[in-house]
Amino acid sequence: MTTEHLLLELKAVSKSFGQTQVLERIDLAVRDGEFITILGPSGSGKTTILRMIGGFEVPSSGQILLDGADISGLPINKRPFNTVFQDYALFPHMNVAANVGYGLKVRGVRNAEIDARVGEALELVQLRDFARRYPAQLSGGQRQRVALARAIICRPRLILLDEPLAALDVELRRQMQHFLKDIQREIKTTFLFVTHDQEEAIAMADRICVMNGGHIQQLGSAHEVYYRPASEFVARFFGENNLVEGRLGEVEGDRRRIETALGALICAVDGQPRLAAARVGAKALAVFRPEALSLVPTGLADQNNAHGIVTALNFAGAHTLANFRAGAAAPVNLRLRLPSKAEGIALQVGDTANLYWRAAECRLVLV
Ligand SMILES: Nc1ncnc2c1ncn2[C@@H]1O[C@H](COP(=O)(O)OP(=O)(O)OP(=O)(O)O)[C@@H](O)[C@H]1O
Ligand SMILES: [Mg+2]
Repeated sequence: MTTEHLLLELKAVSKSFGQTQVLERIDLAVRDGEFITILGPSGSGKTTILRMIGGFEVPSSGQILLDGADISGLPINKRPFNTVFQDYALFPHMNVAANVGYGLKVRGVRNAEIDARVGEALELVQLRDFARRYPAQLSGGQRQRVALARAIICRPRLILLDEPLAALDVELRRQMQHFLKDIQREIKTTFLFVTHDQEEAIAMADRICVMNGGHIQQLGSAHEVYYRPASEFVARFFGENNLVEGRLGEVEGDRRRIETALGALICAVDGQPRLAAARVGAKALAVFRPEALSLVPTGLADQNNAHGIVTALNFAGAHTLANFRAGAAAPVNLRLRLPSKAEGIALQVGDTANLYWRAAECRLVLV
């Protein structure tokens, strides 16, 4: 359960390696008990953020606060955090119980207590019967669970996970996502989880922190990041989106017009004060999802519609994706997602069609 207490804060944290700046003035506030995923393309700085929080790297400038106190100078082993690495980093010569109990042993905890807590941790990750096995005798998913048990056992305030599921195949990965999320709910420990998989980020996070080029592009719930992208990068990064460029028109309540090659589009701007305040005539993109589009008879809607021709159809199981070319003078390519039907969908390549989407499904980003 998430509380309002701020466990960890990054304030204007920058990091350079030599001449190269890899993080620029990162501000991030993590609430006690929440599950945050840090999502971004390769090289965007995800691991570097995690390593600075963990104490493996020192920020070039800025502050890292724990419960409001600066921990920039605190060594790794004095931070109440634990890290789970992608390669698990288990000790090959120790069995599962010894691997899991290692952190307590080096802290000088009594053997009886270590045994009890190892038992509890293995119970939690459902590996009670594997205590005497060695890492080489375990599957990838089991090793991952050992690594998690080892991170949990010292009861850290924060668990840092750097792409912990990257080495697992798709099915196991999905199982481990549920498993990790369930465990996090049960132990109520704050998780910071790095991934570059959008679906994974959406499935697991209370909030997603989207990174690009050493900057945080957006921090918000999965729903916010998906439906209200804060930038063109975020709009393009999450699945397939339709983006149509234009010039901003007037604000009308919590809606705003944008003049595009498809004519005037009406977009929702509630909860986005920057977009409501941007000047008339500013360049922007209207953003709407392929699943937001529906086929309607011509003339039914006088705004947020497009008339054009179907250029491709791709059956993808539960749904069918259609490519669509709209507008006569300056053609605009749109993607449309329709529920698949056994008898086929009522469209063929070359058909003309009319599309409509609601203003609530249409958002703006500034460019
Ligand atoms: N020790 C280092 N010395 C020099 N440059 C580094 C060092 N560590 C990271 N970098 C650079 O910093 C940038 C960010 O790296 P980082 O590992 O944080 O990215 P990432 O988002 O975790 O990427 P990936 O998804 O590939 O793991 C990269 O351009 C990388 O080359
Ligand atoms: Mg990384």
